Amino acid sequence: MLYSNEKINAKNKKTIKEEILKLKIEKNALILAHHYQSMEIKEISDFVGDSLELSKIATKVDSNYIVFCGVHFMAESAKILSPEKRVFLPNTDARCPMADMVTKERLETMKAEFPDAKVVAYVNSSAEVKSISDICCTSSNAVNIVKHLEAKEIIFVPDQNLGAYVSKFCPEKTIHLWKGFCPTHHRVIGAEVQNICDRYPSAKLFVHPECRPEVLEMADFIGSTAQIIKACETSEEHSFIIGTEKGVIDTLRAVHPEKEFYMMDDTMVCKNMKKTTLEDVLKSLKESYGEIQVEPEVGARAKSAIFKMIERS
Ligand code: 13P
Ligand code: SF4
Repeated sequence: MLYSNEKINAKNKKTIKEEILKLKIEKNALILAHHYQSMEIKEISDFVGDSLELSKIATKVDSNYIVFCGVHFMAESAKILSPEKRVFLPNTDARCPMADMVTKERLETMKAEFPDAKVVAYVNSSAEVKSISDICCTSSNAVNIVKHLEAKEIIFVPDQNLGAYVSKFCPEKTIHLWKGFCPTHHRVIGAEVQNICDRYPSAKLFVHPECRPEVLEMADFIGSTAQIIKACETSEEHSFIIGTEKGVIDTLRAVHPEKEFYMMDDTMVCKNMKKTTLEDVLKSLKESYGEIQVEPEVGARAKSAIFKMIERS
């Protein structure tokens, strides 16, 4: 009998999913997935959320074995917040290029240049960078964190676009921006966004603050991945252009088939977020592969910066 490849793959995937679910129960493991993960990863996960939601959930659950489907800094943040738990990143190559644009050594140089400034580190950064920062923020709380920080001068790392967006709400502060950016969001320029807005004139433009300032200026709504999803759900509008990674649109289309969603740009796919496969998750559960380690002293200082953020959000 002749089988199509598609059928064999579907059968394999079903078997892998069953194995994952079985091992998950045996190990009392928890699987977390960021909104940018593929649909098949989201399907086998216990929680899907944005970076702030996921780091909070990891502290609340009683499971001591957390498989974090996202990129390295996210799993590392979960480990920092719960050092007693075992946290795994199933694909160890999944890193955030923007987080890697700032190092502890280079940040120390900038701190020496502006000795009175406090450092706000976007969670898309390493444990080492967080450990020499005063407080963290995510895209969902950055404006609030910076606005209420007791400092007139701030160094904001690493995302220049999120930093510039925050600056607009805090004209009373001097904010020194690091020149980092997210390749997935920063590559889309205003003229391309204008083209798609012209093609779908009745659609609302909802974007992530990692987009360029010229794109943010055109937007009807700006928010984190979870905030974009919620805003689409509660909006009375019918069609939306989504200016963030494709995973968000995949979820919106699955959950709200009655609404229309268009990608702001077809290139908005984060290669690193898409590296994690079902096979990786199975391997991580089976072989305890991809365990995150954080040096305890670095972890303790980074934890204080993340905790200050959680207390204020
Ligand atoms: P969120 O904070 O919205 O989850 O975004 C994380 C991220 O990596 C965006 O590119
Ligand atoms: Fe990093 Fe951008 Fe990917 Fe988010 S979408 S994980 S910021 S590279």
